[in-house]
Amino acid sequence: MWLRGLGIALLVWIPAALHAESVERRCRAPELRDGYFLPLNESYPHESEITYGCDTGFKPIVEGWWARSICRNGVWVKEPQCVEEKACLPPDIPNAENEKKSKDWYENGSEIQFECKAGYSFNKPNNTARCIDGTWISVSDCVERPSACGRPPKIPNAVVLQNQHQELFDEYSKAVYYCKDGFLTEDEERMKIVRCIFGNWTAGPTCTPSTRLGTKVTEPSYIPIDNCGSHPLVPNGEPLVHRSDQLKYTCNRYYKLVGPEIVRCRSDLTWSELPTCKENYCLLRNGAYEELILTKDEYILNNEKKEFECLSDKYLFKNYAMVRCIDQELHVSECCNRAQINLRMC
Ligand SMILES: *[C@@H]1O[C@H](CO)[C@@H](O)[C@H](O)[C@H]1NC(C)=O
Ligand SMILES: *[C@@H]1O[C@H](CO)[C@@H](O)[C@H](O)[C@H]1NC(C)=O
Ligand SMILES: *[C@@H]1O[C@H](CO)[C@@H](O)[C@H](O)[C@H]1NC(C)=O
Ligand SMILES: *[C@@H]1O[C@H](CO)[C@@H](O)[C@H](O)[C@H]1NC(C)=O
Repeated sequence: MWLRGLGIALLVWIPAALHAESVERRCRAPELRDGYFLPLNESYPHESEITYGCDTGFKPIVEGWWARSICRNGVWVKEPQCVEEKACLPPDIPNAENEKKSKDWYENGSEIQFECKAGYSFNKPNNTARCIDGTWISVSDCVERPSACGRPPKIPNAVVLQNQHQELFDEYSKAVYYCKDGFLTEDEERMKIVRCIFGNWTAGPTCTPSTRLGTKVTEPSYIPIDNCGSHPLVPNGEPLVHRSDQLKYTCNRYYKLVGPEIVRCRSDLTWSELPTCKENYCLLRNGAYEELILTKDEYILNNEKKEFECLSDKYLFKNYAMVRCIDQELHVSECCNRAQINLRMC
């Protein structure tokens, strides 16, 4: 188990090292007004952390009286910032649709309009919240609608298609049950739509093993990816949500995708076939070719070439060699000077 873990760690580590030079930039010390931070330095490496606090009468723009920020490729996440105590942080009103890309903070006295989540409504006819001395005060609250439904009930051999996980559903909203592979509803369909009617869902399907081998059963049956849970890990690859029922894998630089690019969730809640990310580079080790001047290991993508300087020849011309990566094998040319190369003498 330990060895296997190590293998994966190595696989994952290699691309991280490859990216190190291009992506992982250092952060400069933050410009923090009305506050202080530790440790002090002029610059900070990628992934390093600082902790900050604010002067009297001020607070960080995240919950708590102190906060941390992490350096991610040259940017502090979140940028350290101290605001007046009487300012408000973005609202977190229970059961409301709290805006996701709202402002970092709001001045004392500012007002916002908010909406309730599905299944909830205001108990007073006013959807305004006001920032007063650091706290959001709202006239009305989001309360459960009596006509709302909870989650559709569990039914054997079926799943519910749902794009986001929600606890409550407004009246008249729809949900779709899907029978698992080889099972059909009482109407010999793969799926059945139910509706929320004043606090109750209409009857769901009864999924029973299908006796017929009709066309409906042999259709490939894929369902939204949320039903299959967390996205499967492909070493050196990255899943992107392509559509609500498809993941699209891309491989990290220096790796090549082999197998299906699109991965889907089957109605039996398993993932369709996964691709793999195969190495697609040659490694030119520092020191492996004595005549080349290298300062570090170099990676060359398949079908690409890179020129390297060689040790100077006896006439003290600069010499160069071309290194090609073909089918993951290195091909290193002779060392020649520019004149020889231009005259195609080598
Ligand atoms: C500042 O950063 C350098 C390089 O990362 C490190 O060697 C040094 O110890 C740091 N100084 C402080 C005060 O943390
Ligand atoms: C914040 O705003 C409220 C309402 O506008 C006001 O009554 C209060 O005095 C303000 N607080 C401060 C500290 O200025
Ligand atoms: C709603 O509440 C806000 C904040 O308390 C208040 O300023 C506003 O006048 C109210 N609106 C109505 C229509 O009652
Ligand atoms: C939902 O259905 C149950 C049983 O069928 C019933 O007892 C209940 O009153 C219904 N709820 C509402 C809000 O109509």
